[in-house]
Amino acid sequence: MKVTLSLEKSKSNDLAIMVDVLRASTTIVAALDNFKKILPVSDKNLALKLSKKMNCLIAGERNGKKIREFDIGNSPIDIQKKSGEILILTTTNGTRVLNQIKCRTLIGSFINAKSVANVALKLANEHIDIVMAGVKGNFALEDFLGAGEIIKYMKNVELSEYAKSALLASMNKDEVDKAVKDSLSAKKLKKLGLYKDVEFCLKRNISNNVPYYNGKYIVNLKDLRNLGSITQSPDRSSS
Ligand code: MLT
Repeated sequence: MKVTLSLEKSKSNDLAIMVDVLRASTTIVAALDNFKKILPVSDKNLALKLSKKMNCLIAGERNGKKIREFDIGNSPIDIQKKSGEILILTTTNGTRVLNQIKCRTLIGSFINAKSVANVALKLANEHIDIVMAGVKGNFALEDFLGAGEIIKYMKNVELSEYAKSALLASMNKDEVDKAVKDSLSAKKLKKLGLYKDVEFCLKRNISNNVPYYNGKYIVNLKDLRNLGSITQSPDRSSS
């Protein structure tokens, strides 16, 4: 099994794991405790229109800030206080990158690193690509270290040098925590009074949720019985 690492675009036609540690991936993983499905939308006006039409909760941010008309922002802590059938979510990078990936896609973070690695190894045929969301096309340290944390749980795989670098960089937990807390994204969130979210996003393996994007909705693969039905790449014609 080949494991590679990318920024924004997937190198694999088999299986991708989208990683946006601060905060989209973490919020999606946490939201699946109380929501059956998540609809990731790139355009905020379309998101608002859909939430009215579907009468469901809408969450999202631009540049870290809650979008004025929305119910809540993109906080994994706040999302756990809400529940419903469907959640509509739009974020600056995570949902945009998710909608660009054309192969089967899982969503990973520090809070579900072990679970997403295990399911990825069961689902993939030959090539897992970990796709870092980054920040507006730029490298983001927290996504690189989050990818390394997921790779830690992938044994007996063939790592690309980029993937191996992420693994090596994520070996020392204290150094990783310090580096993420000092990252540009964390500093931005701190300025917005959202530092508690940074601390939450660094919790290790507190969730078994494994979000799977089927081209329209994000659903939870925690119930492994679902795996059998996910052999083909999703129909992205509608997204
Ligand atoms: C993003 O998608 O850009 C991030 O999740 C932004 C954030 O949560 O602040």
